[in-house]
Amino acid sequence: MKNQRTLFATKLGVIAASVGSAIGLGNIWRFPYEAGQHGGGAFLIIYLAMVTIVGIPLICSEFVIGRASQTNVLGALRKLERRGSRWHWISYLGILSSLMILSFYCVVAGWTLEYGFASINGALSSQAGEQYYSDYFRTFTGESMRPLHWAIVFLTLNYLILRRGVRSGIERMSNLMTPLLFVILVVFCVKSLMMPGAAEGLKFLFVPDFSKITPDVLLGAMGQAFFSLSLGVSTLLTYASYFKRDVPLVKSASIIAGLDTAFAIIAGLIIFPALFSFNMEPAEGPRLVFEVLPYIFSHTAGGQFWAAGFFFLLFLASITSTISMSEISIAFFCEEWHMSREKASLLNYVIALVFGTICALSFGMLSDFTIFGMTVFDLFNNITANYFMPICCIFFSIFAGWMMDKNLLHNQLTNNGKTARRFFPAIVFCLKFVAPTAILAVFVYQLI
Ligand code: PFF
Repeated sequence: MKNQRTLFATKLGVIAASVGSAIGLGNIWRFPYEAGQHGGGAFLIIYLAMVTIVGIPLICSEFVIGRASQTNVLGALRKLERRGSRWHWISYLGILSSLMILSFYCVVAGWTLEYGFASINGALSSQAGEQYYSDYFRTFTGESMRPLHWAIVFLTLNYLILRRGVRSGIERMSNLMTPLLFVILVVFCVKSLMMPGAAEGLKFLFVPDFSKITPDVLLGAMGQAFFSLSLGVSTLLTYASYFKRDVPLVKSASIIAGLDTAFAIIAGLIIFPALFSFNMEPAEGPRLVFEVLPYIFSHTAGGQFWAAGFFFLLFLASITSTISMSEISIAFFCEEWHMSREKASLLNYVIALVFGTICALSFGMLSDFTIFGMTVFDLFNNITANYFMPICCIFFSIFAGWMMDKNLLHNQLTNNGKTARRFFPAIVFCLKFVAPTAILAVFVYQLI
C-alpha cells in the first residue's frame, strides 16, 4: 500500500480525487429524481441543511479517522478505538454498502454508455416527441441483455483501472473532466431556463411548500445528501489515509461539499424547467434524467454532439466515483486479508459482476423478482442511501466526537493548530450532538 499512499502528493490532488468521488451519478441522475419525487423546494431546503450541519462535519470525521490511522476502515477503527471495544464492527457495514452501491451504480453508468453511443449513431438525435425517449428507455432497459452488457463493460474498465493502480491518470483526467462537465451543464442550464414555462420548474425547485415535508421527504433528502457526498461507507476515510499531513481538512471538506452541491443544483436547473415546459411528471423516478435530457439535446442545434459529450463526461464522472468506492474493499482485502492488489481488485470485480448482473436485469427479466416490494436494483439503491449510510454516519460522528482522543482530533482537524482553529468547536459540537440527533430524529420520525 505504501506506493499508493504517495498518490495524493498535492493538495489539489486530494481535492480532485475526493471531488471525483463525490460528483457523479448522484448529482446528475439521483438528485433530480429524488427532488422530483419528494416535492422539490421542501426537499432542497432539507438537503442543504443536511449537507451543511451534518455533511461537512461528517466529511471531517472521516478525514480525521483516515489520516490519523493511515489504513483501511477496519484497521483504522481498531487502531483508534479503546482497547477491547467493538467499534470496528461497523466497518463491515461500510464495506458491504460500498459493494452494494457499486452493483447498482455500474448499471446506471452502463446506461450512460448506451446513451453516449446512441447519440453518436443517431438513435437519439431524431426530432421525435418526448414519448419516443420514454419508449427508448423502457425498451432498452427491458431488453435485459443490452443493459447487462454495458454494466459489464463498465465494471471491466473499473477493474482494469483499479488493478493497474493508475489512479494518478484518473486524477489528472478528473481535473479536466470536472470543469468540462460543469461547462456543458451550464450551457444546458441556460438552454433549459429559456424554454417556455421554465418559471414553473424554478418554482418547483426553489419555492418550498412546507406542507409537503413528510417522513419520506426527510429520509430521502438525508439519504441523498450522504450518497452524493460519498459519506458513511468510508470512501473519504480510505482516501484520507493517503493524505499528507499538511492537507487542510476542514477547508477541503467545505470545498468538496460546496462543489458537490453546486453540481446537484445545476442538474436540477436543467431538468425541472425543461420538465415543466414539456408537461412531464417530476416524480418519474430513476428514468427521469434519461428521458428528459435526450429530449432537450435533440431539440438543440448540434444536439448529437452535445449529447455524446454529456453522456461520456457523465460516464467519466461515474468511473471516478466507482474507483473511490471500490478502493474501500480493495484496501480492506489487501491489508486485512493480505491479498495482492491484483487479487483484491479481482475479488471486488467478481462480487460486483454477480450483484451487478441481478441489478441490471431488474428492469427486464427480473422485474418481477422483488424483496420488500422492490426490485433488487431499487432495494440496493434505497437501503444503502437511506439506512446503511446514515447508520454508519451515526457511528462515525459519535466515534470522532466522543470516543477519539481529544488532542488527536484537535491536531488532525487544525493541522496542529495551524488551520481552522475557529471552526474546531463548532465541528466538534456538530459531531457530538447535531449529527447523531438529526439522523436519529429522521429515523424515529419515519418509524412513528
Ligand atoms: N457520491 C457519488 C455520486 O454522487 O455519484 C456516489 C458514491 C461514491 C457513493 C462513493 C458512495 C461512495 F462510496
